[in-house]
Amino acid sequence: MMKIRKCTQDDIPSIIKIESLSFKYPYPSIVFYNYIGQNFYVAELDSKVVGYAIGDVKRHLIVSIAVHPDYRRKGIGKALMNTILKNMHDYAILQVRVSNKEAIKFYKKLGFIEKELLKSYYIDGEDAILMFKSLD
Ligand SMILES: CC(C)(COP(=O)(O)OP(=O)(O)OC[C@H]1O[C@@H](n2cnc3c(N)ncnc32)[C@H](O)[C@@H]1OP(=O)(O)O)[C@@H](O)C(=O)NCCC(=O)NCCS
Repeated sequence: MMKIRKCTQDDIPSIIKIESLSFKYPYPSIVFYNYIGQNFYVAELDSKVVGYAIGDVKRHLIVSIAVHPDYRRKGIGKALMNTILKNMHDYAILQVRVSNKEAIKFYKKLGFIEKELLKSYYIDGEDAILMFKSLD
């Protein structure tokens, strides 16, 4: 059974694993430690952490979301995103690589719209799309 719950210190190693399987440039672990106790949730399937999402309430920002590659397209990302969005107000924004077509489709499905192109946003020179969703 799938369960969404708040992230604890003990979840960080599993999250770092998912992060490394999901991104060419993973976030350093300090980012995850810093968000513990905030709007940071994990998805647990049969006692295994299979995904996570972080929403920075003050900055109205989706910091990161990822689901283990073996568990995608099962509604886990959507459940995580809906959980963090419930704790956010007014609007939410995020940046996504222009090449990340899957994530862009996912965000659009969840009601985000493409707002702006951020040229050379990433360290390797790739552009980002700034996406926006109105909340409340
Ligand atoms: C983006 C991500 C979190 C989506 O997680 P997920 O659990 O697979 O998503 P869900 O199963 O909840 O998908 C919900 C809907 O989004 C859309 N969607 C999700 N992944 C998609 C894909 N690869 N292609 C097309 N549409 C997709 C679909 O409409 C899907 O509904 P459906 O499966 O009934 O058609 C996941 O692909 C991931 O971890 N990617 C790598 C990390 C990443 O890029 N994160 C975002 C960085 S900005």
